Amino acid sequence: MPVTAIILAAGEGTRMKSRHPKVMHQLLDHPLAWWSVRAARQAGAQRIVLVVGSGAEELREYFSDDADIEFVEQAERLGTGHAVRVACEQAGPFSGPVLLMYGDTPLMRAETISSLVKEAKAHHNACTVLTMSPVDPTGYGRILSEDGQVKAIIEHKDCTPEQRVALTECNSGLYCFCGRRLSENIGRLRNDNAQSEYYITDMVGVFVGLGEPVSALRCEDDQEPLGVNSRIQLAQASKIMQRRINQSLMDSGVSMLDPDQVWVGPEVRVGQDSELLPQTFLWGKTEVGADCVIGPNSRLRNARVGNSCVVDETVIEESAIDDRVKCGPRAYLRGGAHFMEGAKAGTHVEIKGSEVGEGSKVPHLSYIGDARLGKGVNIGGGSITCNYDGKHKSHTEIGDHVFIGSDTMMVAPVTIGDGALVGASSCITSDVPAGALSLERSRQTTIEGWADRYWEELGKED
Ligand code: UD1
Ligand code: CA
Repeated sequence: MPVTAIILAAGEGTRMKSRHPKVMHQLLDHPLAWWSVRAARQAGAQRIVLVVGSGAEELREYFSDDADIEFVEQAERLGTGHAVRVACEQAGPFSGPVLLMYGDTPLMRAETISSLVKEAKAHHNACTVLTMSPVDPTGYGRILSEDGQVKAIIEHKDCTPEQRVALTECNSGLYCFCGRRLSENIGRLRNDNAQSEYYITDMVGVFVGLGEPVSALRCEDDQEPLGVNSRIQLAQASKIMQRRINQSLMDSGVSMLDPDQVWVGPEVRVGQDSELLPQTFLWGKTEVGADCVIGPNSRLRNARVGNSCVVDETVIEESAIDDRVKCGPRAYLRGGAHFMEGAKAGTHVEIKGSEVGEGSKVPHLSYIGDARLGKGVNIGGGSITCNYDGKHKSHTEIGDHVFIGSDTMMVAPVTIGDGALVGASSCITSDVPAGALSLERSRQTTIEGWADRYWEELGKED
C-alpha cells in the first residue's frame, strides 16, 4: 500500500512573533516545512498532503514546482485534529498507512519515520505514535499508559499539576495511522478541552475506546522530535542540524578547524580531504570536490567547485569553478560565471555570467560581466567590461593569450582577438584584431627639469 503523508502547516505560529507563517522560517537554508516534506519523501511517502492556512500563499509559492504535494486549505484553525479532518474531507478518504507529521519538527529522521511505519504494519495498528522523554517536557502532550499499554495523550495544558510531573513520556508529534480507520473515525473528535480545540492526539483515546490497536514507539534521540515554536527553539534546532551535518561530513573525510563556525545545507556535497575554515556557508546544491580549502569568510550557493581549489573570503553564487582554480581573497562570482582549470579570480574582483578560460587570470580590482575569455588571458588590475548601457547588456569576447593592460575599459559589444595586447588605461570601443596592439590614451608629455624649478619657486615664497 502506498504511504501518504499529511503535514500540518496551517498554524499561525503566534510564538514566533512574525508576519510570516511559522513553517516558512528558515532552518539552515530551507524553510521548516521543507524539512518535513523531505523526511516524508525519504521515508517513502508517495503522496504528500500539506495542510495550509495562515500565510498559505507563501507555502503554495514555495512548493509550486513539487508535483507530489497536494494542498489542503484549513480556513479556520480549530486545532490539529480539525486540520486532519479537513485533510480527510478534501484529500481523503485515505487507505494504506497515513503518516501524520507537523511542519514544525524539522529534525525528524527518515529512518525514524520508516521504523514507525514498520511498527504500525507489524501490529495492524489504527494509530502508532512516536514518543520521547525530553529533559524538559513542558508544552508537550503526555502519554498516559496502563500496564505498558497506551491509553491516551493528554495535552500539557489539560494535565493536572501531578500529571505534569509524573507523565514524562511525551508525544513527539509523529504518527502513523491506518488511513481507512482514520478517515472513518476522525469525526469523533470533540473540543471539550483547555483550548477548545480539536486535538489529533485525542484519536489515541478514541481508538482505545473502540478497541482498536494503538501502540507507541519510543524515539531514542530525544532531540529529534524537537518542535519549533519560538525563535529560540529555531536557533536550537538549527544548531542541532548544523552538528548533525558537520559530523557526517567529518566522518566522510572533510576537515573543519572549528565546526561550530561552518554552516552547510542538507543538499551540499563536499569531497574527501577538503577543508572548511571558519565562517564558511555552503548552501543550496553546492558541490565541492576533493582537496579544496574553502574559507574563511566564504559563502557559496549553488556553486560547483572542482578539485584542489582555493576559495578564500569569497562569495560564489550560481557559478562554477573547475579544478585548481583560486579565488580571493574577496572575489565575487555570480550569475553563471565559469572559471576553467587553473584560472584565477583574485582580490576585489567581481565576475558575472562570464566564462574564463584555462589558466586565465583576473587578479585585481576588476569587473568582468557577460564576457568570454579564452585561455591564458591576463586582465590587468582595475579593468572593466562596460557591459551595460543603461538598458541593454552586451557581450565582450576576449581571445586566447590576450594581455589587457591595467585600467582598461572594454566597452561592449567588443571583440579582442587572440594574442592581442591592449595598453594600460585604454578605453576600447572597437574590435581589436588578433595579434594587434591597441592603445587608447593621450601621449605622455615629459618636460625635463620642470619639477625642480617648480619646487625651487615654491621654496622662495617662505
Ligand atoms: C503538538 C501536540 C503535542 C505534541 C507536540 C509535539 C496536539 C494537540 N498537540 O503540540 O501533543 O507533544 O505537538 O511537537 O496536536 N496546526 C495546523 N492547524 C491547526 C493547529 C495546528 O495546521 O489548527 C499545525 C501547526 O502549524 C503546527 C502543528 O500543527 O505545525 C502543531 O501545532 P502546534 O500548535 O505547534 O502544537 P503543539 O502545541 O506544539
Ligand atoms: Ca509545535
